[in-house]
Amino acid sequence: MASEFGAMALSRSERERANGHRSAVFWLTGLSGAGKTTVASGAEQLLYTMGYQVCVLDGDHLRKGLNADLGFDDADRHESMRRAGHMAEAFANTGMIVLVALISPFDRGRQYARQAVSADFYEVYVATTLDLCEARDPKGLYRKARAGEIHGFTGISSPYEVPVAPDTSIDTRGRTPSQSIDEFVQYVRSKVELGRLPRYISANNARGVGRRDAIEQ
Ligand code: ADX
Repeated sequence: MASEFGAMALSRSERERANGHRSAVFWLTGLSGAGKTTVASGAEQLLYTMGYQVCVLDGDHLRKGLNADLGFDDADRHESMRRAGHMAEAFANTGMIVLVALISPFDRGRQYARQAVSADFYEVYVATTLDLCEARDPKGLYRKARAGEIHGFTGISSPYEVPVAPDTSIDTRGRTPSQSIDEFVQYVRSKVELGRLPRYISANNARGVGRRDAIEQ
């Protein structure tokens, strides 16, 4: 297929056929401490073992590099969503299943990301209560926000707009991480199925053999 740069580019559907599954973006949104990173990285591990092409774009990681110049005011959070949206689009075009884990507190920013992605896009609300996130407080940030040491903290002194019509919700209340991960993996698999999975994926599952070996069978 000719790209806008004139060269012949591999199309997403060619890559999807080779991978044996659709590419798609699953955009996990929710409060800090809701479990976005846990669910996304756990799902990445499982899906990878099953033979899927998958990657995670995580807010905390992006903020160490690409988004290192951004703070947490509304404009910077929008910019962070804009950049993650375009990165997700680029990765999805390489055939990947992209799991984005970003607070992404604003509906408008999430809508922007959906528009930026030409592959299938699923908004996944990782649901918890603020009370539970505060009780978990894995990074001690809620305590600091309550003490006034962090300004504009999501849920405390900066808004979080709960998705009005997410494509799905993963409720992490009263569930173990692995239960939430399994639920999400099941959802992802149901959306990226291309019909019959290629032999190497089922062989990989069943016998734990390396992907290359299985392909040769
Ligand atoms: S977003 O709002 O711009 O989407 P992002 O997901 O990139 O947020 O980063 C959130 C992470 O930054 C949190 O998990 C937390 O570790 C850290 N953080 C630091 N300051 C804040 C703040 N004021 N509000 C929310 N998260 C913060």
